[in-house]
Amino acid sequence: MSIPQYFELEGGDRMPRIGFGTWQASDEVLEQAVEAALAAGYRHFDSARAYENEAALGRALNRWIGNDPAKRKELFVVTKLPPGGNRPEHVQEYFDNSLKDLNLEYLDLYLIHTPFAFDHVPGDLHPKNPDGSMRMDHSTNLLELWKAVLKLKESGRVRHVGVSNLNEEQLARVCSVAKPACLQVELHVLCQQPSLVAAANKLGVPVVAYSPLGSKALADAKAAQTGQSYPDLLQLAEVQRIAQAHDRTPAQVLLRYNLQRGLASIPKSTNPARIKQNISVWDFNLSETEVSELAALDRGEKGRVCDFTFFVGADKHPEFPFKK
Ligand SMILES: NC(=O)c1ccc[n+]([C@@H]2O[C@H](COP(=O)([O-])OP(=O)(O)OC[C@H]3O[C@@H](n4cnc5c(N)ncnc54)[C@H](OP(=O)(O)O)[C@@H]3O)[C@@H](O)[C@H]2O)c1
Repeated sequence: MSIPQYFELEGGDRMPRIGFGTWQASDEVLEQAVEAALAAGYRHFDSARAYENEAALGRALNRWIGNDPAKRKELFVVTKLPPGGNRPEHVQEYFDNSLKDLNLEYLDLYLIHTPFAFDHVPGDLHPKNPDGSMRMDHSTNLLELWKAVLKLKESGRVRHVGVSNLNEEQLARVCSVAKPACLQVELHVLCQQPSLVAAANKLGVPVVAYSPLGSKALADAKAAQTGQSYPDLLQLAEVQRIAQAHDRTPAQVLLRYNLQRGLASIPKSTNPARIKQNISVWDFNLSETEVSELAALDRGEKGRVCDFTFFVGADKHPEFPFKK
């Protein structure tokens, strides 16, 4: 089974279907990881204003680009508008700050990170009330926000714009204005969202899987918070058995499964061997039986790790995307 290595985007641009995640990495560790990722062949880098490490990513990318504009063209750099910027009048300011920190002349893709919004508090991307809950802004107008993000393209400083963490109804709504260049959502064997993926496919919106390996640190934090255990995807018996059968690692099986579902994935690792492993997923095939076994692991909404419960009060926002 031969799988395209890219999503073809408007204007002849191509988004590599294995990208590099950058969430939860300190500056120094991230710079080294990005260097290892570039050496391993990654060209798609996923960042976000909210990760507070765009400058470190930018330093590593700029060292690699040097003075060669052709090398910049090889890259596909993504960052995201944080929830605190989710108002038409704030989009430009947050976008400019991201580009400045990344120290790049243009972005390949800019995403609305979440459909819910925080208050705009300069210098504080995660503003909280005294009781620890988030300072939410319930006045969000998702379509007006989307129009403001689309407008960014007019400057030529971003080639594509898209969305993240939208549900099916929200995706259809933004598509009524203009089709996003991609939908980035949590997707792995325990959280497969078949209906959302089918809806995006029908609308012609490429889907990018975040937390494709189950985001272990976040899953552990969620388990500690809720008292409910959450399995390590890499330890699942089915995943281990299929990995052994192909002489591959469990992570490679999970990433290959996403590719065979027609998705892109953006695994994050700071370990050079694992960084290499995660992009070496093009030369083996899961059989139909193996695909069915992995499909059967879906736990629906219970399988979601990144449910934003760490943003206390986000679930009360009128645009909160997930079912409770
Ligand atoms: N749009 C959004 O709201 C959103 C939300 C979450 C994530 N994201 C994006 O998606 C990216 C990936 O998601 P994620 O970081 O949550 O989690 P993930 O990629 O599913 O998992 C990362 C974890 O897996 C480990 N790991 C990586 N490769 C491995 C391998 N081959 N074998 C064993 N363990 C491996 C990493 O540890 P080591 O570093 O030690 O290898 C790390 O602990 C993020 O970094 C971010 O860019 C976006």
